[in-house]
Amino acid sequence: MDKELLKNLIKQMTIDEKIAQLMQLATPFFKGSSHEGQITGPMEKLGITNYMVQNTGSVLGASGAKEIRKIQEEHLKENRLGIPLLFMSDVVHGYKTIFPVPLAIGSSWDVNLAKKSAEIAAREAAVSGIHVTFAPMVDLVRDPRWGRVMESTGEDSYLNSEFARAQVQGFQGTDLTNDLDRVAACVKHFAAYGAPEGGRDYNTVNMSERQMRESYLPAYKAALDAGSELVMTAFNTVDGIPATGNKKLMRDLLRDEWNFDGVVISDWGAVKELIPHGVAKDATEAARKAIEAGVDIEMMTTCYANGLRSLVENSEIEESILDEAVLRILQLKQKLGLFENPYRGADVKREQEIVMCGQHRQIARELAAKSSVLLKNEGILPLKKNQTVGLIGPFAESNDILGQWSWLGAKDDAVTVRQGLHKKVTNTKLKVAKGCGVEAGTEAELEEALEAAKQSDVIVLALGEDSEMSGEAGSRSVIQLPEVQLKLIEKIHELDKPIIVVLFNGRPLDLHGVFDKSNAVLEAWFPGTEGGNAIADLLYGDVNPSGKLAMSIPYSVGQVPVYYNYFNTGRPKDAHDAQIRYVSQYLDIPNEPLYPFGFGLSYTTFSLRDIRPSSNTLTAEQGLTISMILENTGDVAGEEVVQLYVQDLVGEVVRPVKELKGFKKVFLQPGEAKEVVFELAEDALRYHHTDLQFKSDKGEFIAYIGNSCNNVTSFPFELN
Ligand code: BGC
Repeated sequence: MDKELLKNLIKQMTIDEKIAQLMQLATPFFKGSSHEGQITGPMEKLGITNYMVQNTGSVLGASGAKEIRKIQEEHLKENRLGIPLLFMSDVVHGYKTIFPVPLAIGSSWDVNLAKKSAEIAAREAAVSGIHVTFAPMVDLVRDPRWGRVMESTGEDSYLNSEFARAQVQGFQGTDLTNDLDRVAACVKHFAAYGAPEGGRDYNTVNMSERQMRESYLPAYKAALDAGSELVMTAFNTVDGIPATGNKKLMRDLLRDEWNFDGVVISDWGAVKELIPHGVAKDATEAARKAIEAGVDIEMMTTCYANGLRSLVENSEIEESILDEAVLRILQLKQKLGLFENPYRGADVKREQEIVMCGQHRQIARELAAKSSVLLKNEGILPLKKNQTVGLIGPFAESNDILGQWSWLGAKDDAVTVRQGLHKKVTNTKLKVAKGCGVEAGTEAELEEALEAAKQSDVIVLALGEDSEMSGEAGSRSVIQLPEVQLKLIEKIHELDKPIIVVLFNGRPLDLHGVFDKSNAVLEAWFPGTEGGNAIADLLYGDVNPSGKLAMSIPYSVGQVPVYYNYFNTGRPKDAHDAQIRYVSQYLDIPNEPLYPFGFGLSYTTFSLRDIRPSSNTLTAEQGLTISMILENTGDVAGEEVVQLYVQDLVGEVVRPVKELKGFKKVFLQPGEAKEVVFELAEDALRYHHTDLQFKSDKGEFIAYIGNSCNNVTSFPFELN
């Protein structure tokens, strides 16, 4: 069907059919769903009729080929014009084969593997009947109190943009119409949802347009440039107006300036939330503001269903604005080939074959290992197979390692640390004890753990936050481990045996009481289905750690937000004698995070030498080529992430002390050396000026090259 045919179809639609097309409801509302019929009460409350449901445009949260085929079949029996439903779900870091959480994926700095993971997630979702995933989430994050940092690839707009692009390509492929193993991507949450005041979810976001364009918008733009078919609005305000009713953001910027012609969907209930936000007096006004702002689909509330008709009848909005929104939705259905094949990839038999297949699990294992970050190692890792290991802690045998946004993944499918270690060593070499729960424990549990520890040569302490402690609505003001776990480590520490801490968490934690009482720390995040295997691979050195932090680990919560690309201030701490009081500093803690962005250790050592820029000046026409030699100087193979940062010494507005401009992840055998080359062009030096123009300034710059943001070698250059 081409656009004209779709327009003709719209001409045949009644106004109620159009409005229903803009509505998205959860699975239980639909005939054929396994929960069918449980929803009469909620329907009445929402003020919607069976007729509206029969004409609804899309479904939230359905999964499984059998159920989705059935719902579609029932729908098409009753839908007058035969318009198929769109099925949308959150397949954020895997469908059933769960990959590490996105913050971990960001820490892999492995864009190709991230793309592969999105491709697998899409394949599993598509064969199970899903058409659209609510991913990637690309919100830039700087505040670990916010529970949703785990859904983001971190604190840097360049890194986030690389992953945004890769994930969209992985989900969508290059031909959504014919490649039935792909799903449409929906980049979220537009815009700046990752910057809520105080790290409290859904809270106000307050920043200048310039800062938003500079740091927060690039990753959404990268996702759109990669072809993301949908955009989801954010819950927060942007310059005083909730994103979901924000014309300047959604129409002027997204539609007009960026020419986005795909579908915009509100976040869950966000249209109705315009009322408590205080910009709409009732549901009808909320509907008007959202549709005027360019929101095509209202997720889960029914302001459109109940309000749009009267708005058109009273000439408060034109019917053409509905037609526009309907057209975009029908175009997406067309692109997915649903008019020809409303069941698309949904295939019960193939679903059984490919969902959670061995190959998918293998990639999940690889990515989990690459995403873990070795923060500390006083020579005790990797473990030796003749050592007796005391595996202790609430995560020793826990399968709560998938993260909060893996609702289709089953914990029972997850490999625990114990199971992973068992594949490496025999029972006799492993003493396992829980020690305590995540937030509470008993004396008996503690005693048992101390006993196990005494019988061991080395202790692996598996600690962390359970998955509900981060994720959506998972903000916390204290980001240390719960006290009971700090007590556990303290008691074990008293035994004076080597301690390796493996951390499971969705946010960077305040690691006081952990890093200072251990000899090695491995940040495993929520590693996903294959977590236990990946961790065992790392602990025994079958895989060499190569992850680098995508988000700073704060020294303590008092310095949050803490991030690497800060401004120098007029009184930088290191510019004065440390005795002087009047500099930008805390009196009680350092300014620096405990572990900075880009940081992560390896079991081998690398040397980075012969760094040679092609020139000490660059121009708009002629960029710089920076070459160097990276050598593996240790005795095991490994990967290193070489990072290029730039500082603009004098700007029209203040420029960050460093900004990531490139990175390369390089694998080297022991003794092997390779040339690493970066190209730096003038456009990488552009930034948003006070008039919002995106351009560079001639003048002096410094390039920094290294293996974390603060372990670098630098050289000056000029832009002429
Ligand atoms: C979240 C979104 C998610 C949506 C649908 C909302 O609460 O903010 O990220 O896609 O629910 O499940």
